[in-house]
Amino acid sequence: MRTVRVNAASQSYDVLIGKDAVRELGQQAKKLCPGALKVLVVSESNVAPLYLDRVKAELEGAGFEVIDYVFEAGEQNKNINEIAGMWNKMAEAGFTRTDFVVGLGGGVTTDMAGFAASTFLRGIKVIQLPTSLLAMVDASVGGKTGIDIPMGKNQVGAFWQPSLVIEDISFLKTLPDEVFTEGMGEVTKHAFIMDLELLEKLEKANGDIRSDEDLLEETVYMNVADKAGVVGEDEHDNGRRQTLNFGHTVGHVIERDSGFTKPHGICVAKGMGIVMDACVRAGTLAAEDAERMKALLKLYKLPVSDDITPEAIVEGAMNDKKKRGDTLSVILVNKIGQAEIKKMTAEEFLKFLSV
Ligand SMILES: NC(=O)c1ccc[n+]([C@@H]2O[C@H](COP(=O)([O-])OP(=O)(O)OC[C@H]3O[C@@H](n4cnc5c(N)ncnc54)[C@H](O)[C@@H]3O)[C@@H](O)[C@H]2O)c1
Ligand SMILES: [Zn+2]
Repeated sequence: MRTVRVNAASQSYDVLIGKDAVRELGQQAKKLCPGALKVLVVSESNVAPLYLDRVKAELEGAGFEVIDYVFEAGEQNKNINEIAGMWNKMAEAGFTRTDFVVGLGGGVTTDMAGFAASTFLRGIKVIQLPTSLLAMVDASVGGKTGIDIPMGKNQVGAFWQPSLVIEDISFLKTLPDEVFTEGMGEVTKHAFIMDLELLEKLEKANGDIRSDEDLLEETVYMNVADKAGVVGEDEHDNGRRQTLNFGHTVGHVIERDSGFTKPHGICVAKGMGIVMDACVRAGTLAAEDAERMKALLKLYKLPVSDDITPEAIVEGAMNDKKKRGDTLSVILVNKIGQAEIKKMTAEEFLKFLSV
């Protein structure tokens, strides 16, 4: 078992990473949620049949009354109706401010479980049990919670740090291959923006970090440590945390243009490739560094380009929430393992992408 401590300004907490880490849940919950009698386990239709019984047994074994809320899997259900369902379930069961929520699933689930916890009775505790690679290395760590509205993804939410995150590596065994690959988009991103050692490890693993559970655990650990470091410095996304958006400014536009049929991690990989090429043309990134990063993406079956035009990217990006005032914060990698936040106007961004 490995532990990463996240020292966010609002709250510090542990991320426990390991095979069968779920066995820690009951005792840890008792310690971290004193006075709690009830717990709402939020999960979804793919994950619940696999792991809900196990999680319930852990919590019941520690003496909690367990109520579950299982929604239909999928991003289209990351909405206010499901949150209202969770609020109602807790209210009906007579939850008080000392009771808590557990999120068991991918990023859709952990985002919603966190948001329901952040709002119920003005905020109760949440413990996250991410089950997808993306949720383990990214969504469940750092306290961003929320839902989608028709006008856009993640447009409503709250910063609400969990009290604990348990990452049971064994849960990844059932993750479909293509969903695992999507998660690799965020893993490679962490390597490119801040972790040369991770990049070297991924190169050495030669496209397969899945079949060796020890390697998988170590890789997840390195990613969580990377993200924890950033969140510790900048919980509310006003500075360095924005570097985690590498590939996202462009990726979000591609994702939205596809009507959200192209997966997030795939679009981020495309976005990273497009920005790397632009950095090489601008002379700020060495061509061999870009080739090395793109080779890594391809090794993990991720794309490095898209046929979207620079004009379409800029138009889409200016409508995106990442813009602040009239400028966009574009994340550049000028050297492997080092990211820069560069403010650009629409004209500058178009020039950057086109020249
Ligand atoms: N809060 C944040 O900081 C943050 C960061 C990145 C992404 N996100 C959010 O995360 C979401 C994407 O996360 P995701 O890719 O995990 O999506 P997801 O929750 O939809 O999970 C992806 C798919 O994998 C399935 N699944 C998950 N775990 C499984 C397991 N162990 N075995 C079998 N199937 C399993 C799910 O049922 C689903 O079909 C998006 O909504 C995104 O906005 C949030
Ligand atoms: Zn992302």
